[in-house]
This record gives sequence, structure tokens and C-alpha cells, in this order.
Amino acid sequence: MVRAAQSMARVVNADEMAARARRRLPRGVFDAIEGGAGDEVTMRANRAALQRVWLRPRALADVSRRDLSTTVLGQPVSMPVLLAPCGMARLAHSEAELAVARAAAHAGTLFAVSGASSCSLEEIAAAAPGPLWYQLYLPPRRADATALLERVERAGYAALCVTIDTAVEITRERDVRNRLTLPLKITPRLVATGVSRPLWAKDFLLGRVGQAHSMHGFGRAVRTAYQNLADTIENLVPVTFEDLAWLREAWAGKLVVKGVLRGDEVERMLGLGIDGVVVSNHGGRTVDCVPPTIEALPEVVDAVGGRAEVFVDGGFRRGTDVLKALALGARACLIGRPYMYGLAAGGEAGVERVLAIFRGEIERAMALLGCATVADVDSSLARRE
Ligand SMILES: Cc1cc2nc3c(=O)[nH]c(=O)nc-3n(C[C@H](O)[C@H](O)[C@H](O)COP(=O)(O)O)c2cc1C
Repeated sequence: MVRAAQSMARVVNADEMAARARRRLPRGVFDAIEGGAGDEVTMRANRAALQRVWLRPRALADVSRRDLSTTVLGQPVSMPVLLAPCGMARLAHSEAELAVARAAAHAGTLFAVSGASSCSLEEIAAAAPGPLWYQLYLPPRRADATALLERVERAGYAALCVTIDTAVEITRERDVRNRLTLPLKITPRLVATGVSRPLWAKDFLLGRVGQAHSMHGFGRAVRTAYQNLADTIENLVPVTFEDLAWLREAWAGKLVVKGVLRGDEVERMLGLGIDGVVVSNHGGRTVDCVPPTIEALPEVVDAVGGRAEVFVDGGFRRGTDVLKALALGARACLIGRPYMYGLAAGGEAGVERVLAIFRGEIERAMALLGCATVADVDSSLARRE
């Protein structure tokens, strides 16, 4: 862990962490994390649109002390950056979601645990004391959904975050080209993949989850990494307004809807009693050619009108990106790929490093823009082209 932390300390920004992950992971695994839907237009647009927002520094403010802390749905967090739900963490690193939960708790921020995680939701909750959301892929049968919600509640998750932008299974072309199929088939190509990245292969086969089942060897490690993901993906169903109403009845805690891109649908969701929305296009991974999230954000913020909290994700790679979103009305941003790259490159230390990079960048940018607190990052701070 100390060696990993030293190595990670040399990574200076999120893009460099991606380069490290690319070197460590087999091509197919890196592409499965990196890739977007279709021509990846939306995926690229998320970044490009952020680069069309300009920050307007406030002059002569006293920024000798900076405070990045805020709250999300009443829960204190040390900075306005949360970890988005990402399945497939076990492919990136054998410590998977456990490492992510520990790193998030260490950084004092919130981890939204994917419904397609490789570790059980109870194990993840037990791994670290930090606040967690549970991201729900709604099971097709009500009885299964009820049982799952009971487990989520018993494990102490602070909120339920239901993803609504995955009505059907998604096939990304990079995965097709790399012949990454679910469930994973052990082909000569897959074995060759492992040989090409020995450090990754060793961790994948002999690391935590693999080790526990080492007598079953490779096949077991692969199945553990994939089973819940494969089950979840095979069972994806569209979430309707009726489902949302049912969820609101069935779940007493905070309820967040992830995957909103239009303001005109928000009123009906608010009418059902939701507590938050995540403006998200799934990092450009579901349907291509939907708008970049930073452009959809103001419309959703207007429609919500302060009656719920608005979060946003998609392409956030810099502290200045986060400040742009806050200025346009977001409560906090979620990051997906950056921490998955950190996990791949350095396990828990890699995720910690990514969070430290964001924290440092946000703090410096706040000082230079004349903001001592997150509340100072108001709408006067950003201008869209
Ligand atoms: C490898 C990977 C797996 C993901 N799995 C899920 C998931 O299980 N549930 C979900 O709601 N979103 C999932 N997402 C989407 C993220 O929650 C988030 O919306 C997106 O990654 C944000 O964009 P960014 O990666 O550019 O930060 C996944 C994203 C990636 C990259």
C-alpha cells in the first residue's frame, strides 16, 4: 500500500491516471471502462461542452481560508465530488468496490455503489464507515425488488439512486470488437489478453476475491467478477413512472433518480416525492447523440426550482469542471471513469489519489476565483458560450 501510494503520488491529473490504467489493463478491459455508445459523440461532447463554459473570477475576495465541505441530501461530505456507481470494478482490481468504499471514506466523500457490483452490498457497507448510496437496477419482479430494498435498508445505505437510462441491454462496439461477452467465455484470445498484462492477470487471478476461491482457479475468478453484472444486465427492464411511484412507497429513505436530461419531466418526478436527480447520460455509454450533461443541467436546475438536489456527471476530469457545474446549479458532481482508472492503476491508493487530485484542483481554483466556500460558487461565476 505504501509503495502503491508513492507511485500514485507521481500522477498529476486525471488524464494521466487514465494513461496509467491503459498501460496496466488488457485492451478489452480498458475499452470496457473507457468506451461509449455508438460513435461516442456524446462521450466526447461531455468534455467539449465543459470546455465551452468559462469561469469569471471574483476580484479582491478574502480567500485566505478555503472550505470545500458541503452536504448532499443532508449528509456532510468533505468536497462536492462523489463517486458514481460503476459496475465491473472487479475487472479493474481484485479489491473492487471494497477499495473504492475505503478510499471514499478516507476522503470523506460519498460512494454510490453500483447495483452491478462484484462484492455484495453488505460487504461493501461493512468495508468502510463513509456515506453510501445504493444504485438500483430495478429487478423485474416486485418480490425481488422488495427483498433487495430490505437488504439495502438493513445495510444502512443513506439513499437509493434508481438508474432510469438503461431500458435494455447495451452493446458497445468496442466490446464487440474485443469480443468481450457476458457471461465471459474463456477463449485463447482471453488467455492471451491476460498474458499481455501479467501484473493485472496476477491480481485478477490471485487477488482478494480470486484467492478465496483459488482451488477453483481461473474460471471461478472470472465468474465472481462477472456474475452479478451479467445477471443484472440480462434482467434490465425499463423503469416507468408507475415503478417510480411504487419505489417511493416501498423505500422510506431518500430517493434519487439518475439519468435525467430534460427539464419538462421533472415536475412529475417531484410530484412523486423524489429527493434528488442526477443529470446524467451514463458517461455517453447508453444511447449516443444525447446532449452533454453540462448543457442539460441548467434546464433541469430551473425545472427543479430548489425543491430537490441536482447532481451531475459525465466527463468531469478537472477541479474547474466541478466548479462550472456548481456555478450552473449542481449540488455536487459524480465521477465515474477517473476513479475506475485510479482503481485499475493503484487499487485503493489509486482511488485516493484521484480524489486528492480533484480536491487540490478545486481548492486552488476556488482561491483563484475568489471563493472561500462552496456556497460562494454562485451563478455569477460561470458564463456559457
Ligand atoms: C465502467 C463503468 C461502469 C458503469 N456502471 C454503471 C452502473 O452499474 N450503474 C449506473 O447507474 N451507472 C454506471 N455507469 C455510469 C456512471 O455511473 C456515470 O454516470 C458515468 O461514468 C459518468 O461519466 P464519467 O465516466 O465520464 O465520469 C458506469 C460507468 C462506467 C465507466
